Amino acid sequence: MSDVLHAPTLDIEKIRADFPILGQLVHNKKLVFLDSAASAQKPRVVIDAMVNAMETQYANVHRGLHWMSERTSDAYEGARDKVAALLNARDRSEIIFTRNATESLNLVAHSFGRTHIKPGQAVLISQMEHHANIVPWHMLRDAHGITLRIARITDAGEIDMDDVEAKLADGNVALLSITHMSNVLGTYTPAARLAALAHRYGAKILLDGSQAVVHRAVDVQALDADFYVFSGHKLYGPSGIGVLWARREILDSMPPFMGGGDMIDRVSYERSTWAKPPFRFEAGTPAILEAIGLGAAIDYVSAIGFDAIAAHERDLTEHGIAVLSAIEGLHILGAAQDRGGVISFTLDGVHAHDVATLLDKQGIAVRAGHHCAEPLMGRLGVDSTARASFALYTTRGEIDALAAGLRRVKQVFG
Ligand code: ALA
Repeated sequence: MSDVLHAPTLDIEKIRADFPILGQLVHNKKLVFLDSAASAQKPRVVIDAMVNAMETQYANVHRGLHWMSERTSDAYEGARDKVAALLNARDRSEIIFTRNATESLNLVAHSFGRTHIKPGQAVLISQMEHHANIVPWHMLRDAHGITLRIARITDAGEIDMDDVEAKLADGNVALLSITHMSNVLGTYTPAARLAALAHRYGAKILLDGSQAVVHRAVDVQALDADFYVFSGHKLYGPSGIGVLWARREILDSMPPFMGGGDMIDRVSYERSTWAKPPFRFEAGTPAILEAIGLGAAIDYVSAIGFDAIAAHERDLTEHGIAVLSAIEGLHILGAAQDRGGVISFTLDGVHAHDVATLLDKQGIAVRAGHHCAEPLMGRLGVDSTARASFALYTTRGEIDALAAGLRRVKQVFG
């Protein structure tokens, strides 16, 4: 059966034609790119938007009283509007451009953490966090004396809501900082329920949306979130641009993360005062071209629509679980009810790095290792996994190619 029949709302061949890289041969084989959770490929419109800006409308932003600077500032600020619409932010000033989700998390840890989390208060994370949502809290703990609590996940790879509540219950947690979708297990966390729980016990909630924002519509108001972070490069945009969204009243209460040009109100030799958000948090020349590229990526996915994207990826995930589970000796990690297009697995007798290397020889790209989630590997009782991850341009045929490739890997290892 063709891919089109399985996902009637997406014209998958037309979509694939939008991504120049997908036609490449790798080791003389057709590229099967199943590593989009690490970084997604870029559609032509993103590439063109960045090239066009460099060729026709480029200067520094917010500084020049000349035509070129004004046009570039409009394009950069236009990208902020697109992000605000993507997340359904109340106001465009709630959107801070950073380098990536990691920088957004570090900004919150450094600025909100040192100002609003008192020594002795806790940050609650979960067992399935990326290192980007663990290490900044270790740093804050060591510098500022906060404590870190870890909410358990179940064996199915879902958040243990009873444990979350138990760890919030004494009212000493200032922030619940948790993934919206695991980059290892594909699990979606029940973000709105988590937000309600956090607020009931006086904590704020930060959602790491690096994976989730790519696959589903996100509405920060409906979720009742306080902070939301993601990276542009997983959302079909360029690397070097990320987003921090936070409620305006929280941003107003936060000091800058970095100092320099563009983030000030007044500077004398004696002292400096800060600009209002979002500029307070964007010191120095920002990632202008990357913001413009991210804006084009948001236009691209919005035109396709998240209902169609989510339906296509649901179909791919179901198909992936069915064909991979049929391989003897292959074990899929996690079995969450609500999961997206990320499948991590182990293969008996073959190290994940060997799986990835032998698949690569067949033109199939997957990620192998601990996926920047070493503590989760320990919780799952493995040292590494192979991981196939899907995007809006992935086809069922590619997942079948992965299954065939894995059978060849098994043959090589006897
Ligand atoms: N966080 C990215 C991943 O999961 C790099 O692969």
